[in-house]
Amino acid sequence: MHALTARVTNRLATLRAQDLLRVLDVRGADQGPTITIGDRAYINFSSNDYLALAADPGVIAAAADTLQASGFGSGASPLLSGRHELQHELERRIAKFLGFPAALTFNSGYAANTGTLAALLQRSDTAYSDRLNHASLIDGVRLSRADSRRYHHCDPEHLAALLVEAKPSSTSDTVRMIITDGLFSMDGDIAPLPTLRDLAHQHQSAMYVDDAHGIGVVGPDGKGSLQASGVAHTDVTVLAGTFGKAFGSAGAFVTANEELISLLFSTARTYIFSTALPAVCSATALAALTIIETEPERRELLAANVNCFVEEARRLGLPVSSSTHIQPLIVGDAAASLNLSAALADEGFYVRAVRPPTVPPGGSRLRFSLSAGHTHAQIRSALQAVAHHWERLRG
Ligand SMILES: Cc1ncc(COP(=O)(O)O)c(C=O)c1O
Repeated sequence: MHALTARVTNRLATLRAQDLLRVLDVRGADQGPTITIGDRAYINFSSNDYLALAADPGVIAAAADTLQASGFGSGASPLLSGRHELQHELERRIAKFLGFPAALTFNSGYAANTGTLAALLQRSDTAYSDRLNHASLIDGVRLSRADSRRYHHCDPEHLAALLVEAKPSSTSDTVRMIITDGLFSMDGDIAPLPTLRDLAHQHQSAMYVDDAHGIGVVGPDGKGSLQASGVAHTDVTVLAGTFGKAFGSAGAFVTANEELISLLFSTARTYIFSTALPAVCSATALAALTIIETEPERRELLAANVNCFVEEARRLGLPVSSSTHIQPLIVGDAAASLNLSAALADEGFYVRAVRPPTVPPGGSRLRFSLSAGHTHAQIRSALQAVAHHWERLRG
């Protein structure tokens, strides 16, 4: 057998034996709190469309208008064919919304984080990352070849110890950067941003926050985890976010000062060597941004859904650990979390099990993503179904 064929077969067998093989479902047309897989409808708790904007009529109309005017494909990399005027407008508006001088849109959050970190850091630098940071942040640091130090999750004391123990910088060109998710994607908790900011000041460290799950949703105006934590944008070197979650669209962005953004579009490889985002995506993100700025009631509906979830889960004796729209129910064992997910699917609830390497070993869970579009009845009935199977299937 060819060596690669054998490797693929063996790796698949190992994943299967560890209950870590993935299944890719095929979804029907509907997009929202209810989805169809095969011929069955499910209440969907696995989408990050937190504000129910992906199928919003205003967002769809913006897409349809732009499709008519600009077609779909963007033709080439932005450096080759220029970026669409809507992309430029989106960059201007998202930077203003978040209080930064400039922004750059990328094709995805994964591309934004890997491209930006690889462009900014180099071998002589040190990156201090929360252990539970998103894979795109971890991979960005790897690509940069900076020295990587990972502190315990949301543990500024451990970070402080790592910062103190580091060798004094050998050259003035050496950069230290604290890198964190704003709102953690699998746990739903918010990073201790004020303390991280203080440590960054104290140790002359840059600060990079990826708030993919916070922007649009948390903070009084939906400006994200920085606003929710009372940390000024001026305390952060780079703020990254995505349009694929609360904005119900696709693509992502990085906000920073103008010089840093110029360096990114001149050197970030995931920006330069990739076809630009279709104009339709900028149009939908712009429409979503207007809704985020003008319809706080969506965040209020979502907050009421979070309260409903937490109260019902507590009433049923389920282990609640988050106070945001991301609600993990930690199961531990991968097979048990798959069994629970399958039992919920049988009852019409789509709640995917999240297993390693997306979460640490032994941390398999059901991850509930709540949306402003869910009803309280849907949330309660899903939790009642979880409670019904919890003791038996958790093992
Ligand atoms: C914290 C975080 N950053 C970045 C990403 C990647 O964003 P995108 O889906 O736009 O690639 C995700 C989502 O998967 C995420 O959870």
